[in-house]
Amino acid sequence: MDKYVVEGGATLKGSVRVSGAKNSALKLMAASIMASEECVIRNVPDIADVRTMRELLVHMGLELEHESKTMRIVPSSNPRPEAPYEIVQKMRASIVVLGPILTRFGSAHVAMPGGCNIGSRQIDLHIKGLTEMGADISVLHGFIEAKAKRLKGARIYLELPSVGATENLLMAACMAKGTTIIENAAMEPEITDLAEFLLKLGARITGIGTHTLEIQGVDYLGSAEQTVIGDRVEGGTFLIAGAITRGEVKVEGLNPLHLDIVLEKMREAGCAIEVGDNWVRVSIPGELTGIEISTLPYPGFPTDLQPQMVALLSTAQGISFVTENIFDNRFMVVDELNRLGANIKTRNHHAIIHGVPRLSGAPVTATDLRAGAALVIAGLCAEGETVVHDIYHIDRGYECFEDKLRGVGAKIVRTS
Ligand code: UD1
Repeated sequence: MDKYVVEGGATLKGSVRVSGAKNSALKLMAASIMASEECVIRNVPDIADVRTMRELLVHMGLELEHESKTMRIVPSSNPRPEAPYEIVQKMRASIVVLGPILTRFGSAHVAMPGGCNIGSRQIDLHIKGLTEMGADISVLHGFIEAKAKRLKGARIYLELPSVGATENLLMAACMAKGTTIIENAAMEPEITDLAEFLLKLGARITGIGTHTLEIQGVDYLGSAEQTVIGDRVEGGTFLIAGAITRGEVKVEGLNPLHLDIVLEKMREAGCAIEVGDNWVRVSIPGELTGIEISTLPYPGFPTDLQPQMVALLSTAQGISFVTENIFDNRFMVVDELNRLGANIKTRNHHAIIHGVPRLSGAPVTATDLRAGAALVIAGLCAEGETVVHDIYHIDRGYECFEDKLRGVGAKIVRTS
């Protein structure tokens, strides 16, 4: 298995361009299942999760081509409405094909997603919403069996603004009979990207970017062409990497508004942040100091940047308090950061971070995608060598991670 060897101490300087957002590209691919004509998706990152979704669509009979970031998806004349266990267990996000398959083909056979390193991730809201739209759903032998000749519009109130449930129900509603209203919907920018793709396919949606989505079902979805938005989580990761080395890094190719609260928190900690149309630059004019952060659904602080921020705050003067409200097990990275010399204590979903003057390199293990990125970031400023094991987690969501980091001056190599 591959690992990263990071030599700490280099100050990052320069520009880095983000790839297309993983969490958007995957959903646009899932939405293509409903299209009756060819779809073209641009700025698709070449990462393991996209390859897994591609495997899933090919399994269903769709034809895919992915060259120089452009993906062409051609519908199948004889589709298989199913998602096998071997693919779903590699990537939980595969569950977002449930709504599109069911609404397009009238039945779906989708493996139940299994456990997850960042906490238990239920899918009850997906199932409840589809049931309210008239689906007959049972879970048998580890598979979700869903049937509905044609889903019908419904008023659905989400108990919590789940990203995946909002996306599944939004897609399912596009081809249901009548009007669906999703209340307390999640508002992540990737959902807006998906809704815009669906509009191009011929869907009728209002309330995009708000907590209430209204969808008038249609009989037919045609073709669409769309460029995936820049990855705000990747962008935030590089900004934090620049900050932890007390360097100056410009991140290009994203909408700075998507990082509003993150930039606000970085400023509060003492970073200087400049913002342009599609870029953000971080530099460090003085000492960094501890702050408080709580993760929340968008536009709150994203849970996907929490581990990286914890790494940064480990090197800030004073005490920081971080509360994780989205996932119940997302502090696994803390033990690994403490191996690098950080001083972090956790209690339930709170972390108390006492800033230390320096971290020291050590062997550590990535427990999930963002934890892996946080460990690399910590290694960039640790004295000596940090070896990050199990970096297949990082490959799931970061395209050319080490190349991009080397481009801004990091000393990082991948070894087997
Ligand atoms: C998506 C993102 C992930 C991000 C997360 C929160 C993708 C591929 N992944 O994950 O990177 O960290 O949003 O911003 O887009 N929940 C329930 N019942 C449900 C659904 C969710 O209780 O039916 C709970 C989950 O257990 C979790 C929380 O809600 O604790 C958030 O989950 P959700 O918003 O659904 O995240 P994902 O869509 O899985």
